[in-house]
Order: sequence, then structure tokens, then C-alpha cells
Amino acid sequence: MQGKYFINTYGCQMNVHESEKLAGILRSRGYTEAESLETADIVVFNTCCIRETAEQRVLGNLGIVKKLLETKPGLKVAVCGCMAQKPGAEKALKKRCPFINIIFGTHNLHKFGEYLDQLNQKKYIGEIWEKEEGIAEDIPVYRTSGVNAWVNIMYGCNNFCSYCIVPYVRGRERSRNADKICDDVKRLLDEGYKEITLLGQNVNSYGNDLGGEINFARLLERLSGFDYKYRIRFMTSHPKDLSEDVVKVIAASDKLADYVHLPVQAGSDRILKLMNRKYTQKDYLEKIDMIRKYIPHVGLSSDVMVGFPTETEEDFLETVNVVKRVWYNNLFTFIYSRRSGTPADKMEQVDISVKKDRIKRLIALQFDIGNREAKNCVGKTYEVLCDEWKDGKAKGKSSCEKAISFRSENDVKGQFVQVKITGTKNNQLKGELVY
Ligand code: 5AD
Ligand code: SF4
Repeated sequence: MQGKYFINTYGCQMNVHESEKLAGILRSRGYTEAESLETADIVVFNTCCIRETAEQRVLGNLGIVKKLLETKPGLKVAVCGCMAQKPGAEKALKKRCPFINIIFGTHNLHKFGEYLDQLNQKKYIGEIWEKEEGIAEDIPVYRTSGVNAWVNIMYGCNNFCSYCIVPYVRGRERSRNADKICDDVKRLLDEGYKEITLLGQNVNSYGNDLGGEINFARLLERLSGFDYKYRIRFMTSHPKDLSEDVVKVIAASDKLADYVHLPVQAGSDRILKLMNRKYTQKDYLEKIDMIRKYIPHVGLSSDVMVGFPTETEEDFLETVNVVKRVWYNNLFTFIYSRRSGTPADKMEQVDISVKKDRIKRLIALQFDIGNREAKNCVGKTYEVLCDEWKDGKAKGKSSCEKAISFRSENDVKGQFVQVKITGTKNNQLKGELVY
């Protein structure tokens, strides 16, 4: 028995899933999960660097660990993920937090077990691979996500949006072998998982690097052919790459959720060009119309950024226009954050007070849309996959990703049930079981 681990995860679902791999590796070495940081023997920071706030959170929590070390000098500390992969990060982290025992990057996560084995002999192990090297398969995964399981279909990003650090810390696009993905999904369904979320920075490019043997639409077809009741979701789609073919496949299968996360980022054509997004507002809205043509009840969500360099009030109002036109289910709003090494960092920056004002207005707009949309749902019945149940209180999501809470005497976690919406509270949908 090696002791107890505690993993701190920051950032996106990709990181959450990679923490399941870190936990899998730790458990394969005999570690068990600690209930809290205070009772752990090793703490792992799986970091994110997409915005400055994410990095500040990591550094703040490393400060807490430094204090803890005064009373627990045997505690081991490992730091990995996107922040560790940034050029020069290892040296900077080690200087600021000399107590760290292991630092490794995104490209060598699969080597974590070897680093753990070396902990007995070495005080410090630091290894960051500069470049990605293919795809490491067969890493043990320890899932704690209930009825939903994440499956990677590809890694990396080739898009180089001018504000984004991801292509620098995740490398170029690499697609996993389709048979391996199908085997993973089949095994998870055999184990009783009901919802599979396919992960990739840009899932619509799936297969581009596999010599034309498969693309995302064909992969979705294969993954929707198993003889179980389940749902497949995926994220993230780049608007320039989401094809009509993929949308038709979603429309034709009841296994593929009626939901698309399609980040627009901004509404102004001038800003979209500066962002290197490769579409205009018109292209984007046409894509939304195309999706709605095939899947009328589709749930849509988006990532939107305010305060990108040089953004004027008129530019911002174009973003407002898109949000009003599309009427998203859900909107993830961000204040642009400077990332050194990206082209946008060198452009003329917008004042923070202007950024704060714009994000406040955007959040208020989406709240209003969410409120009206929630009221529209009253009286409708949805098929809900229950993912939480306790003492008669249940929660779950519809295929179009509406979050719904309802009462059920029986434990229906992991079951698909029919729920009629009876009312709303703070934009949340409440319903009752329909038998
Ligand atoms: N500043 C703010 N938000 C960013 N995102 C990516 N890079 C930045 C940045 N530098 C947002 C984008 C992306 C989401 C995952 O994070 O909206 O879609
Ligand atoms: Fe970043 Fe753009 Fe790639 Fe998304 S598509 S990860 S925003 S560079």
C-alpha cells in the first residue's frame, strides 16, 4: 500500500477526463483516494492555462500546500497539465514552489507511473516533452462520473485562433484509431454507462490525419450502432468544420443527442478575422439554420468572449446580435485574457472596465433568454437521463441538454424517464414523472 492521493483538477472536460487517467495510474500503483487534501500522501495538480484566472487559482492552491507541508513534511506534490507544458514553466514553477516533487507535461502524462516509481530514490523528477509523440493507448482509467463516461477521440488542435494557448500546449491534431474508440464505447456500455461524451479540441476534424479512411460522420454512425439504450454527445465543434453530413447523421439517430456546442466567440466579422476563426457572422448563422433545418428541437450552446483586442462597442453589439438571433440553451461567457506567445497578446488591448461592463450585459441578456426559454418549456415532456438521485430528489438532462429536476420515490439514477415540466425556478426546470 502506497498511501492516499488527492487530485486537484482545473479547466475543461479534457482535463477532468485526464485526471481519471492519473487516478487510474495511481491506483495501479496501489494508491487509494483521500477524502481531502489534508489526509493525502500525494497531491496532484492537473492544471489549465487557458486564462490567467485559471493559472492564479493553481498558484493560490500551491500556496495552501506550502503551508500544509509545515505540518506534513512527507506530503508529495506533483504538477502536470497545460500550465506545466508552457515553455519555461518547469523552471518558473520550481523557482516559485521548490517543494514540488514531480513536474510533467501534457505529452508525457502516460509516464506518470514511472515518475511515481522513482519517488523513493529521487527528491525531484521533471520531464516535459516538447513535442507530442503519437497517442499513448491502454492507460488505466478510474471513472467516478456516474452514468456519463468521457472518451477521447482526438488530441491537439491545428487552428491557432489568435487568442488561444491550446495549440501550443496540446500539440497538433492526432485522431485515435476508430476500432479502439468503438471498443472503448462498447465496453463502457457493457459496464452500464448510459451517456458517452466524445472529447476532442475540434472533433469535426476527426480522421483528417488518418489518410481518408474515416471521418467524424462515419465514426458517429459506427458509435450509434450498439444494441443498448444510450446517448452519445461530443465536444467541441469548430463552426468552420461542422458538416451537413454530421448534422444529418445526428438527425437520423436516436442515440446521438440533439445538442451541439458551437462556439461563436464573437459576432463582428472584423474581430472574427483578427481571431483567425475563418468564418463570418453570416456563415455562422447559416450553419445554425442548417442545424435547425435537420434537427428542429436541437439544443445549442456556445462560448463567447468579450474584450478581444480592439473590440469596439459596435463590435460587441454584433456579438449581442448573434446571441439574440440564435437563442442558445446555454452560453459560456469569458473575458478575453492575454496569453503570452499568442498573436492577440501583441494587439491593442481593451480596458478592463470596458470588458467587465460588456460581460455583465452579456450575462444579463443570456439570463433573460434562459428565463423566457425555461417558461416556454412548461407543459412539455422530455425524455430525461437521470444522473443524480437522493432521498426522492432526482436530476437529469434531456437529449437537447436541458437540466431538469423532479421527484421520484424510486431510485432512477441511470434510467431514461419521461418528465413533464411543471414550473421554473431561477431558470431551472422542475418537472414530474410521467408514467
Ligand atoms: N481568453 C479568454 N477566453 C479564452 N478562451 C480560449 N482562449 C481564451 C483567452 N485567451 C475561451 C474560448 C474557448 C473556451 C474553451 O475558452 O471561448 O472556446
Ligand atoms: Fe483554441 Fe481555437 Fe483550437 Fe479551440 S479551435 S482549442 S479556441 S485554437
